[in-house]
Amino acid sequence: MTNFKKEIPFNDLPLLPPRVELETKKVLVKTISASRALAKLNGTMINLPNPRLFLDTIHLQEAKASSEIENIITTNDDLYRSVVADKKNENPATKEVLSYKDALWSGLERLESRPFITTNLCIEIVQCIKQNTAGIRVTPGTTLANTKGEVIYTPPTGETIIREKLANLETFINQDDTLDPLIKMALMHYQFEAIHPFADGNGRTGRILLLLYLKMERLLDIPAIYISEYIIKNKIEYYNKLRNVTENKDWEGYILYMLDMIENTANKSLIRLEKVISLMERMAKEIKTDLPKVYSKDLIEIIFKLPYTKRQFLIDSGLGTPKTVGNYLISLEEKGYLRSVKVGKEKLYLNHKLMEILEND
Ligand SMILES: Nc1ncnc2c1ncn2[C@@H]1O[C@H](COP(=O)(O)OP(=O)(O)O)[C@@H](O)[C@H]1O
Ligand SMILES: [Mg+2]
Repeated sequence: MTNFKKEIPFNDLPLLPPRVELETKKVLVKTISASRALAKLNGTMINLPNPRLFLDTIHLQEAKASSEIENIITTNDDLYRSVVADKKNENPATKEVLSYKDALWSGLERLESRPFITTNLCIEIVQCIKQNTAGIRVTPGTTLANTKGEVIYTPPTGETIIREKLANLETFINQDDTLDPLIKMALMHYQFEAIHPFADGNGRTGRILLLLYLKMERLLDIPAIYISEYIIKNKIEYYNKLRNVTENKDWEGYILYMLDMIENTANKSLIRLEKVISLMERMAKEIKTDLPKVYSKDLIEIIFKLPYTKRQFLIDSGLGTPKTVGNYLISLEEKGYLRSVKVGKEKLYLNHKLMEILEND
C-alpha cells in the first residue's frame, strides 16, 4: 500500500516502472489497434508530396486544445489571425497558445540534435510556454484541486525529492527495455503529472512530451497528430484516470485511456488530413480552370498552409510583384475561394473552407 493522502505531499510517489503487471491482455489488444492507427497516419503523412505543409496548422490546433484543457481559451479566428498578422494580437490567452506552439516546435527541434527527453528539456519547455524563468518548484504549497476547490492531490515537495523523481523518470524514458513504447508513453505522462515539478504549466508540458515521445520513438516521423482534442472531450475521465492510479494503482484503466486517445486521434487526424487534401485538390482544379493565370502549385500550398494568408506570403514565395499577387488575391476573393478581412491596417485572406474543416471535425 502507498501512504497516499490527498492533503499531504506525495513524497512516496513510487518510482518507475510500476511493480505491477502492465501488459495485460486488454492492454496488449489495445496497444495493437492504437499502433496500427498511428502507423496508418504515419504512412499517409510520409507519402505526401509535402508532408510538412500542414504541420503549422495541426500544431496550432494542438496548442489551442491543450491550453483549453487548462481554461486558457482562444478562438480559431483570433489564433490564426494573430499568427499571420504583422500587428500581434494582445489577447493574453492567444499569446499563451502561441507560446505553447513555440515550445512544442523548439522541443521537436531539440530532439533532432539530441534525441532524449530530459529534465532540462522539460524546464526549457515550461519556460517557453510561460514566458518566464521559473524552474522546479522550491517552495511547498502546490496542490491540485477539483472545480469545487477541494484538494484532490498534493504533489511531492522539496527540490531534492522532485529532482530525484525526475531523474528516475528521465532514465525510464530513455532506457531500452521491452515495454511497448505506447505503454511507456502513458507511464511517462502519469509520472510527470504526479511529480508536478512546476508551479504551473505541468499539464501542458506533459502533453508536449507526448508528441515529443512519439517522434523520439519514431512512431510518427512527422508529429502531425492532434491529441489534446480527445482529452478535452473526455476531460473528467482524464482526471479520474490519473487519480485512480495514485489512489488505487489502477494502471490498466489509465493506460487503456491513453491508448484510446492515441487510436482515436490518429484515426481522426487521418480523416481530417484526407478531407483537407481532397479540398486542396478540388480547389486546385477549380482555380486552374477559373483563373488559369493565377493558378500555381505554390499558390495552392500557401493558401493551405494556414487558414489565413496575406500578400506578403505570396511575395515571399516569389509568385510575383506586390501588385500582381495583390491582384491574384482579389481575383480569388471575387470567385469565392477566399474571404478578406481587415486586421488593423492589414488585409488578410481566409480560406474559409479550410477553416470549416478545422472548426467542425
Ligand atoms: N489527480 C491528478 N494527479 C496528477 N496530475 C493531475 C491530476 N489531475 C490533473 N492532473 C494534471 O495536472 C494538470 C494541471 O496542472 P497545471 O500545472 O495547472 O498545468 P497547466 O498550467 O498546463 O494548466 C492537468 O492538465 C493534468 O495533466
Ligand atoms: Mg495551470
